[in-house]
This record gives sequence, structure tokens and C-alpha cells, in this order.
Amino acid sequence: MTQKSREQEINEQEQRIKDRLAGIRNILIVMSGKGGVGKSTVAVNLAVGLAQSGFKTGLMDIDLHGPSTLKMLGLEDKSISATADLLIPLSFNQELKVISMASLLENPDTAVIWRGPLKIGAIKQFIADVLWEDLDYLIIDSPPGTGDEPLTVAQVIPQAKSIIVTTPQQVSILDIRKSIIFCRQTNMDVLGIIENMSGLTCPHCGEAIDLFSFGGGEKTAEDMDVPFLGRIPIDPKIVAACDQGKPFVLDPESADDGFNPIVERIVQETL
Ligand SMILES: Nc1ncnc2c1ncn2[C@@H]1O[C@H](COP(=O)(O)OP(=O)(O)OP(=O)(O)O)[C@@H](O)[C@H]1O
Ligand SMILES: [Mg+2]
Repeated sequence: MTQKSREQEINEQEQRIKDRLAGIRNILIVMSGKGGVGKSTVAVNLAVGLAQSGFKTGLMDIDLHGPSTLKMLGLEDKSISATADLLIPLSFNQELKVISMASLLENPDTAVIWRGPLKIGAIKQFIADVLWEDLDYLIIDSPPGTGDEPLTVAQVIPQAKSIIVTTPQQVSILDIRKSIIFCRQTNMDVLGIIENMSGLTCPHCGEAIDLFSFGGGEKTAEDMDVPFLGRIPIDPKIVAACDQGKPFVLDPESADDGFNPIVERIVQETL
């Protein structure tokens, strides 16, 4: 038996990537300039919200250094299975399938050192070698900044569009400008900006407190001529929902405040 040449292997992988992508209608990568602004929270809740609206949805967590989506979905103890040559994503429910780098890391507490080429290879495999069914939406959760991960997505998935998450204050705003410029340089369409942690309602007196300022995301969207998808207030219930692995968007009383209108807007923008 002759061994496959490296070139043959690469060509075959490229073909598998093309085949998989052909079955996915919309691919959205959640990005941010800064860390900790709520990308994973947004990615998880949008994915669950889209699935709740009846769309076949996939969630792919490519944050190798801090994958957190499985924990937020209560799936961190589930192990993935595989066929002879494909990984089978975890099921959150009938409509939502999830794959995360966390499943491939033996010990989730181990700090991981990945070089650029390894990361690129892992992300390509997450598309080529995962048994994604045909999907309406694939949401990708990425680490902060404009490093290897979003760059790989931009290069390997030319149809991917970005959702940029920011908090409203100036120090974050400076960084989303960089994210928007990155998207322009890599020819990735920006679906829009989400302003997260936007205002807080005092649980005692009901008064609005603009803890991290207010409106910076919307203003930047206007200035940079990209759509504004909406804002999500600071809500202690979001923190608890993330920690308990029960997505906030499933709470019928709360989600109308932030996530549901954004899910509707995304569906409109991607029809
Ligand atoms: N609107 C919100 N209200 C209250 N807490 C929030 C909100 N959005 C996110 N959080 C909390 O903020 C913390 C950071 O959120 P998250 O992990 O989603 O950020 P991230 O941008 O993905 O971080 P990283 O850059 O490390 O990947 C989490 O504890 C989450 O529960
Ligand atoms: Mg994250």
C-alpha cells in the first residue's frame, strides 16, 4: 500500500472542508478586541436562542486557552464520541450541537501552549472532521483579539461573518475599532456590534446605573458604518446562569431584555 503524500492529505482535507461548509447556511464568528467582555456568554445564548427559534444550530468553541462554552451549557462532563474518522458533536438538544476544544484537552485546568500552526490545524479539523449535520447557523466562539484563530476562520471560511462584542466604555471601544479593521483587511463582513454589560438596573431601587458607561458600542457602529445589533444589560442572573450551565436565554422572564431581540435581528439580517 502506498502512503498518501502530504499534498494529497491537504487536498483531501480541503475537499472535506468545502463539503462540510456547503451544508451550513450561515457562519458567524463572535469576536472582541478585549477579553472578558462576554463573547462566550453571547455565543452560547445566541446559539441557544437560534435553536429555540427552530433553527438547526452548531456551536464551535475555538478558544484553546480558555474554552468555556461547555461549562455554560452544562455539558462539561460529557465526552465526545467518534465514528471511524469523524467526531460527533455533543447534543445540547435536538436543534443545538456543540464542539469545543475543551473536549479534546485531557485536563481542563491545564494551561495549554499552542503554536500558530497547531491552532490552525485544530480549527481546520473542527470543520473537516466533525459530523455536522446541515445547519442553519454555525456560531463560533473565539478568544479575544485578532490572532491566529479569527485569522484562520477568515481564511478557511470565506463566507463567515463577524459579530463583535464590546462593553460600552472607551477603553473597549478603541479595541473594537481594531477588530473592525481586521475584518475589513481579511474581507470578512461584519454582521454587527453587540454592546454587552450595557447599564444595570439597581435591584434595590430600580434606578439605572451605567456601570461601564452607555452607548459606546452603538456610537462606534455609527462611526464605523457597521450595523448595531443591540445591547444586553448587566444582570447578575446572567452570571449565575453561566456558572450553573443553564443558558440565560431559556429564562422566559429575562431574555426579552437583551438576547431575544438580538436573535430576531440576526435572523432578519441573515435571511
Ligand atoms: N450582561 C452580562 N451581565 C452580567 N454578567 C455578564 C454579562 N455578560 C457576561 N457576563 C459574565 O462576565 C464573565 C465573562 O464573560 P465571558 O466568559 O462570556 O467573556 P469572554 O469575552 O468570553 O471572555 P474571554 O475573553 O476570557 O473568552 C462571565 O462570568 C459572565 O457570566
Ligand atoms: Mg470566552
